[in-house]
Amino acid sequence: MLAAIDHVGIAVEDLDAALAVYRDSLGLPLVHRETVTDQGIDAALLDVGEGHVELLEPLAPDTTVGRFLARRGPGLHHVAYRVADIERALSDLREAGIRLIDERARIGIRGSRVAFVHPASAGGVLTEIVQPAEDR
Ligand code: CO
Repeated sequence: MLAAIDHVGIAVEDLDAALAVYRDSLGLPLVHRETVTDQGIDAALLDVGEGHVELLEPLAPDTTVGRFLARRGPGLHHVAYRVADIERALSDLREAGIRLIDERARIGIRGSRVAFVHPASAGGVLTEIVQPAEDR
């Protein structure tokens, strides 16, 4: 069901400063940048092989990532697995007794469809499943 690791999400205080590291020093190509008001983030996606690094800067302190930064500081925020059919994946996970944060898929960056699994059901790791947009 989980086809690959699609990306790791990293919470940062300052997206441009993080890009200076991930794009300029580590040499990962920046392929997408998007503000997702719905999720309270300014996001940048960099390519690494078949997968990505997703850098997340909160738009405000009272957002999910803003609260994460206040509590834990910058660092690894979530791991995202790629699936071909997110409805099917959600139903399989529910059936397996996995605790979901999102009962239904919502729109992620680059037109993807995403849903989050509660860390309590994933060894303490906030886990995302993502179905990339059709044209990817
Ligand atoms: Co993500």
